[in-house]
Amino acid sequence: MPGNELLARGIIKNLKAAEGKFNARKFPDGESYIRILGNVKNKHTVIVCTLAHPDELFLPLFFLAREIRNQGAKRITLISPYLSYMRQDKAFHPGEAITSGYFAELISSIADQIITIDPHLHRRKSMNEIYTVKTSVLHAAPFIAGYISKHIANPVIIGPDSESKQWIAEVAHLAKAPFVVMKKTRRGDKSVKIKSPELKKYKKYTPVLLDDIISTGHTMIKTIILLKKAGMKAPVCIGIHAVFSETAFKDLKKAGAKILLTCNTILHFTNRIDITQLITSNLEKND
Ligand code: R5P
Repeated sequence: MPGNELLARGIIKNLKAAEGKFNARKFPDGESYIRILGNVKNKHTVIVCTLAHPDELFLPLFFLAREIRNQGAKRITLISPYLSYMRQDKAFHPGEAITSGYFAELISSIADQIITIDPHLHRRKSMNEIYTVKTSVLHAAPFIAGYISKHIANPVIIGPDSESKQWIAEVAHLAKAPFVVMKKTRRGDKSVKIKSPELKKYKKYTPVLLDDIISTGHTMIKTIILLKKAGMKAPVCIGIHAVFSETAFKDLKKAGAKILLTCNTILHFTNRIDITQLITSNLEKND
């Protein structure tokens, strides 16, 4: 899908696969036009579509997948390195739609298999709780740990909240570094409160703040403020998924993020950690 060309071409190159072509555009009234160019009949067809900004993306994606199916593809795999709508996994207030489940119903209807990277599994422990098709959940941890080991001296890995422990612990283990997990209370979209354990013994370390999603950046900003107060060095901030809504990037830099980098699950100029091989290997294994 448009915007995913770089990653898709990397996968195509690694797999020596054929590149499918299609036209996607908008009619003057805003409706979506899709035309498949080439032949998908009896082919395992792989769509690469990361799902940041899903509300705009879903209809064109649905039409494309539907038409691929209509033209007789043998199998459809959807690669969505970032899978959105995972965070609204319960009704926090009466009447709220649990959209993670509804979105899962939609996505499950268009593909035979979904491959994603570090989806935000928190209260839900497995994708099978909401997705009805086969899902492969891949983890960027070895790639992040590889980057840290190569580029950051004396790191301590910092997780901003309890759910980040799943990523932090694995990355810390692989990078042979200590880790600290903070406690977060969310009060609103841009309002979070973070509490930190004692950090004294890490003063000589380079803090590496790691989270799955950087959206408004407020989770990281509040954590950076705490690290500063504790007299720690300026942190290196790593996000798996570079959502960066509104002014998040600028706000983070202003708050003191010395280096800010992400995995290429969503195309962004902060992408430094390449997960193409992670996806390719999984496709090879499952084909
Ligand atoms: C949720 O708990 C996630 O793991 C992230 O911490 C969160 O999505 C970050 O959002 P924001 O950048 O808006 O604080």
